[in-house]
Amino acid sequence: MDSNILNNLKLTKVAASKIDTFDFENVKFGEKFTDHMLVCEYKNGEWGTLEIKPYAPITLDPSARVFHYGQAIFEGMKAYKEENNDIWMFRPDQNFERFNKSAIRLAMPAIDETRFIGGLKELIKVEKEWVRKGLGNSLYIRPFMIATESGVIASPSNEFLFCILLSPAKSYYAGKIKVQIADYYSRAANGGIGAAKAAGNYSAQFYPTKLAQEAGFNQVIWTDSNHTHLEEAGTMNVFFRINDTLFTAPTSDRILDGVTRKSLIQLGESLGYDIKIESVQVDTILNAAKNGTLKEIFGAGTAAVVNQIEGFSYKDQYYQLPEMADEESYALQLKNALTKLQNKLADDPFNWTV
Ligand code: COI
Repeated sequence: MDSNILNNLKLTKVAASKIDTFDFENVKFGEKFTDHMLVCEYKNGEWGTLEIKPYAPITLDPSARVFHYGQAIFEGMKAYKEENNDIWMFRPDQNFERFNKSAIRLAMPAIDETRFIGGLKELIKVEKEWVRKGLGNSLYIRPFMIATESGVIASPSNEFLFCILLSPAKSYYAGKIKVQIADYYSRAANGGIGAAKAAGNYSAQFYPTKLAQEAGFNQVIWTDSNHTHLEEAGTMNVFFRINDTLFTAPTSDRILDGVTRKSLIQLGESLGYDIKIESVQVDTILNAAKNGTLKEIFGAGTAAVVNQIEGFSYKDQYYQLPEMADEESYALQLKNALTKLQNKLADDPFNWTV
């Protein structure tokens, strides 16, 4: 870490915090933010001074590249508070690395660790009262970068804004969800930007997801370009349990290298699960659902943690997954192990908490 960068950080505090009127119990995911945000501008080939200032709208030229060409990336991370008031982040190094991989793919400048991780730690210190204790409570962290240079020429911007927002969070999806397996639309393509956390990857899902919701489903399970292999579930990576083997697709150009995904794989292996990092065919899942060997499907992501899937449809045929006692569910065992570790209610043999 470069201490000069942190020593020069400019801090402007709000006149009055809104924390006393904030409804932590009923907050919806990602709707409300804390008092302050972190910002840093990139101009003339370099990152500038870090600034923590009151959360407020950003003013941009209407021709800024982000509005026209979607040159924008983001991350999703979480912080937790222990009983003794210590605050922990979960594997922030992984998000930092992935942010810079996304930046390269979108022709944006990489950011240094001091500004990303160091700046984030300073922001969380200012906002420490906003991190609530207890299982299920967290502070969702949303770092993002947008192209701010004006002009509608279709070329990469030379000016950018890096910003971090904080949002007190409970769970993302409430309860089990029903999903539709994509047989027409795709989320990503070979050689495309599916592995990057690019804003456009998410907006491209909105329309097919809206259609799925109109048909009574919560999310879409994305397939590869030929619609033969299962890849991701909505905004999450996806796991399938056939008998007692857990399958998840290997990361690729099309699949996000999820921090929750890779943590669950390691946790599952430490619990003695049989885990296979293999692409699962749509046909395999249909057959397993028909012959009763498909036990569970669940999504995994920072926001959702682990989200159980109760059934899916494929080409208008609905398949309901079998009922299962909570203690037998791999999804719940993994969710429990991960959230306890994140909240410091269990040991962290992996040194994931920072
Ligand atoms: C996350 O899990 O952090 C995500 O990025 C999903 C988001 C679209 C809510």
